[in-house]
Amino acid sequence: MNVGIDKISFFVPPYYIDMTELAQVRNVDPGKYMIGIGQSEMAIGPSSQDIVTYAANAANKILTDEDKKAIDLVIVGTESSFDESKASAVILHRLLGIQDFARSFEIKEACYGATAGLEAAKNHISRHPESKALVIAADIARYGLNNGGEPTQGAGAVAMLISSQPKILALSDDTINLTQDIYDFWRPTGHAYPLVDGPLSNETYINSFNKVYNRYSKEYQESFGDFAALAFHIPYTKMGKKALQSVLPQASEQDATRLLERYDESITYSRRVGNLYTGSLYLGLISLLENSTALKAGDKLGLFSYGSGAVSQFFTGILQSGYEKHLLKDYHQALLLQRTKLTISAYEKMFNEYVDYNKTTTFNDELPFSIAKIEDNIRFYHN
Ligand code: HMG
Repeated sequence: MNVGIDKISFFVPPYYIDMTELAQVRNVDPGKYMIGIGQSEMAIGPSSQDIVTYAANAANKILTDEDKKAIDLVIVGTESSFDESKASAVILHRLLGIQDFARSFEIKEACYGATAGLEAAKNHISRHPESKALVIAADIARYGLNNGGEPTQGAGAVAMLISSQPKILALSDDTINLTQDIYDFWRPTGHAYPLVDGPLSNETYINSFNKVYNRYSKEYQESFGDFAALAFHIPYTKMGKKALQSVLPQASEQDATRLLERYDESITYSRRVGNLYTGSLYLGLISLLENSTALKAGDKLGLFSYGSGAVSQFFTGILQSGYEKHLLKDYHQALLLQRTKLTISAYEKMFNEYVDYNKTTTFNDELPFSIAKIEDNIRFYHN
């Protein structure tokens, strides 16, 4: 039985900043952000929007009434939770109108969370092929203003419907996982921003990719020639490229050229959005599928998921016949185009906007599923 991604979509907030303008205001050579980090724009969200609103907007685009009746598992992978107890998946389940007899929960392990969710959904659907599962990656990547992490922020969500008749990507059972207890990026309870050892995080990411990829090739007797493309977790677009380049000396020139060309197609959207944390790998996958004309049904894709702390996974999938007809390319490109550009001072103001969740607050945001009101520490959403 094939189990995998039946539908996939992303949603990003309606504001962004230009990275050249940010560099100028921060007195940094724009080449550092545009080339060294590899980001052109960065998504910014107002305080009337959160991981639930991003997730609901991403999922609502792909779900039909029939899907909502068939879904019996809702998983949100996130490291931007706003409640230590109640899962955002429970709120989403109601907002999206999914049938009652479903299991809904949240998974956390930095940027790896959604991949753990995907594995859980795959196992569930393998045992219950008549069901469908909704897996959502939703995050707000915030490092604060005027520091090394600032140009690698971002926000948004990716929603994936998992079924036993996947129209886009069938997920294989061949996978390699790796856990290493490393403090490269972590956010102790109560901290608004993560603590980061940037150079260690880059080094751990690259080492982790080398370990899982090399073990995969050895265990499953596969090499670069077997992969039409590799998709990476993309905290910033230069990161995945560095990891890919670190293994390419083992590849033929033809394989290296192909994988680098596909990599460039996989970062088109991330360049304009920034880090989605758990969603970044899947934003990269959407970008690859929607921007590559070289891929075809039957092609094998390799996916590298990395969550600081650190958990990594290399896994693979096969593109399904007619997959390109089920992508939402026009919608996604319009979503990016229709955003409003903020000046750097407007971005700083939005970033610093303080909301006291203990006080009743109302918002006037027109975006579907945005927060309407906060009362007694409960968020009420428009839907
Ligand atoms: P930094 O110290 O500001 O930057 O930190 P840098 O000095 O290392 O420079 C970055 C690159 O720009 C370098 O290229 C420079 O040479 C180049 P590299 O040597 O690395 O190839 N550069 C220029 N290029 C062209 N023209 C110029 C110029 N000037 C310099 N004029 C860092 C960068 C990414 C560390 C920082 O932004 C940071 O800490 N970000 C957050 C951590 C992060 O994203 N780590 C990635 C791996 S960990 C991960 O992916 C997990 C994560 O998503 C979290 C999770 O799992 O939950 C983060």
